[in-house]
Amino acid sequence: MNTNEIGLQSEKAADLADKLNHLLANYQMFYANSRAIHWNIKGEKFFELHQKFEELYLDSFEKIDEIAERILTLGFTPLHTYTDYLQEASIMEAKNITDARGTVQVVLEGYKALLKIEREILALSDEADDEGTNALMSDYIREQEKSVWMYQSFMS
Ligand SMILES: [Fe+2]
Repeated sequence: MNTNEIGLQSEKAADLADKLNHLLANYQMFYANSRAIHWNIKGEKFFELHQKFEELYLDSFEKIDEIAERILTLGFTPLHTYTDYLQEASIMEAKNITDARGTVQVVLEGYKALLKIEREILALSDEADDEGTNALMSDYIREQEKSVWMYQSFMS
């Protein structure tokens, strides 16, 4: 059985790296959208949401680096061009969205897409005995589910 540098089955590590690249591409879109809505938000919730979206893009910035470096740790190359991100991501670009509910909707839809991919990765990492990726995904899922609750509360 072929194993990679950290002792995981090579074939399973390759599947994981593919899926993590899919997450990386989507996170880049989520990050770009977070910056866009940080800049574009208008109206009476400006100060609150402008600040919130800054927290969001700073957090995404760190997670993007963690995901890319996890791919490297597994022995693969993270996607690193906008062309690849656009091609690979399912999260759409949030262009010219300025109202409070519209911007929060962008965040909620983004989280929904990210959570779905993270749960798929979790299933794979579980099967591959990849505790490192497992722990990373568990942290992301727990944090993001809580964020969804809070953004959803804003909407209701
Ligand atoms: Fe700013």
